Amino acid sequence: MGMDAGRACIDDRDGDFELNWQQHPDCPADGTKLCDIADIPDEGGHEVAFGDGRENFRVLLLRRGERVWSYVNYCPHFSLPLNYEPQTFVTLDGLIMCAHHTAFFNFDDGRCVDGPCVGDGLVALPSYVSGGGVYFGSRQASTSEAGCHV
Ligand code: FES
Repeated sequence: MGMDAGRACIDDRDGDFELNWQQHPDCPADGTKLCDIADIPDEGGHEVAFGDGRENFRVLLLRRGERVWSYVNYCPHFSLPLNYEPQTFVTLDGLIMCAHHTAFFNFDDGRCVDGPCVGDGLVALPSYVSGGGVYFGSRQASTSEAGCHV
């Protein structure tokens, strides 16, 4: 699949907080290691990307202590990544700010609480922490079959 297929997936929103990320051609398989938890700044953000080009699959990881949340790095306001510079995320007190028009999103549920897209939110992705690593998918699914269609 080419980049057009990726674009079709990323634009195919299906209601609130939904995005057809499972159909993205660069979606990693369940159990894929994203990074070490130490790669994510405490109270900060880190991106792990799969595939090439503007329509690649970008995973935004947010961390507080030993807790990690993962979202598609895709602001619902203008459909852009939340960061302007690579690996540069502005965070404050459990919120992450989009670098483009200063929308603020909760770490823990991805909801926009201030800015131009209040009421919308980031699209959550499944991930889990194990042995100091952060992995894509659910812990149960990682021992069976991959959940993504690549
Ligand atoms: S693109 Fe994120 S606030 Fe506008």
